[in-house]
Amino acid sequence: MEIIVKDSVEEMSKAAARMVARTLNAKPNAVLGLATGSTPLGLYKELVRMHNDEGLDFSQVTTFNLDEYVGLTQKHTQSYHYFMHENLFKHINIPPQNVYIPSGTTDNYESFCKWYEQRIVECGGIDLQILGIGSDGHIAFNEPSSSLGSRTRIKTLAKQTIDDNARFFDSAEEVPIYAITMGVGTILEAHKIILLANGKNKADAVAQSVEGPVTSLITASALQLHRDTMFILDRGAASGLKMLDYYQWIQDKMPDAP
Ligand code: F6R
Repeated sequence: MEIIVKDSVEEMSKAAARMVARTLNAKPNAVLGLATGSTPLGLYKELVRMHNDEGLDFSQVTTFNLDEYVGLTQKHTQSYHYFMHENLFKHINIPPQNVYIPSGTTDNYESFCKWYEQRIVECGGIDLQILGIGSDGHIAFNEPSSSLGSRTRIKTLAKQTIDDNARFFDSAEEVPIYAITMGVGTILEAHKIILLANGKNKADAVAQSVEGPVTSLITASALQLHRDTMFILDRGAASGLKMLDYYQWIQDKMPDAP
């Protein structure tokens, strides 16, 4: 695991955008795994800027989103379809047929979930997966006690996630109770993973994920088993890490490593 600490959310977002750009420069038809929520907003803004100002090209890119609320139509302003369209896709040159987001309104979730997993494999797997982290340590909507081998499926959201996400809705009662989400096992198959976190309210989840035991109670801790995962954090999110000085030391010394 590589831990990178930045002084601000802007710097965190820019560092992540540079990693995405590096992936696309090396492989213009890369497959990206994308997250929603407040954390990646700066990253998407920066990618849009790079597309406009520097010609970052998405014409051959394919994307798979992590999750979607069950029951929200694509036009619902809190659906992740709407979020992705408004914050990224409508501003870049990605072909609409290359965009995959789990359906929150299919009439057969079981076969949809199988199809989604199959499409990821048919597209060659996810080259770079972007993740946020919930205050309960979840990645995607893999809530505490999710199997670390889980695949795309329906999950019942934890009360804490519903409360955390109520800020996007008029009230907690409006937050859907179920979501369709990639599994931890699906995520662990991505070739490279970048987890972004900012703010003190994520410090405990980050510390447990990086320095705690691998446990299904903190599904992000499963990333310790992945061979190419980077956490890019702001100082608030990094503030609970016991080995922070060591991670900074590595970060400083890395450019001169043989
Ligand atoms: C969203 C997702 C979630 C969020 C997490 C953090 O696609 O997969 O795991 O990344 O709930 O959300 P924010 O960024 O809003 O704090």
